[in-house]
Amino acid sequence: MVLSLILLPLLLLLLYFIVRPRPVTIPIKNRHVFITGGSIGIGRAIAEQAAAEGAARISLLARSLDKLEAAKQSIQKAHEKVEVSIFPADVRDYDAVQHAIREAGPIDILVVNHGVYVIQELENQELDVVKFMIDVNLMGSFNVIKAALPLMKDRKNRGPASIALMSSIAGQV
Ligand SMILES: NC(=O)c1ccc[n+]([C@@H]2O[C@H](COP(=O)([O-])OP(=O)(O)OC[C@H]3O[C@@H](n4cnc5c(N)ncnc54)[C@H](OP(=O)(O)O)[C@@H]3O)[C@@H](O)[C@H]2O)c1
Repeated sequence: MVLSLILLPLLLLLLYFIVRPRPVTIPIKNRHVFITGGSIGIGRAIAEQAAAEGAARISLLARSLDKLEAAKQSIQKAHEKVEVSIFPADVRDYDAVQHAIREAGPIDILVVNHGVYVIQELENQELDVVKFMIDVNLMGSFNVIKAALPLMKDRKNRGPASIALMSSIAGQV
């Protein structure tokens, strides 16, 4: 009895050290970073940071071509060696997303950052607005990841691949 009281916590502690999540450093230098919603805001800031850290290629996907062009020019002006590609597409359109991702080529780091948020209390919000947010934020993310996965898994000798998903505390509140 006494032995099991000592052994059990020790075993649980050991188990914790075996399965605990560990931070992994994903290298950015010389790699291809694909960012959805990369034309403005946080996505664009991530793109600029990736360029500053030596990414070889940065691909940006969003709907507005004008904003994508502006982001591309700004990043290339500050970081001449970085190749910036832009893809005007709506994440709700799987075929368009798949086409963009195939054109972009093998992705090392995928940042699923696009997102929309219509601030309103649920009881006052129309269901088509709720559906719009789910279509963009949730289904759009599935579309991007599903389209990217085969090419990401098929990369050879290109180091660890990574997918990052942008979230919000709005999802928890
Ligand atoms: N800002 C915050 O305080 C905050 C807080 C928590 C979480 N977040 C999350 O962080 C992410 C970025 O936020 P942000 O503030 O930087 O947003 P933002 O400035 O509004 O930028 C959103 C980006 O997503 C793109 N986008 C929107 N709908 C799209 C669609 N249907 N298809 C393709 N691209 C689409 C936009 O470009 P187009 O409109 O041209 O398509 C734009 O590039 C979002 O996921 C957001 O939920 C932000």
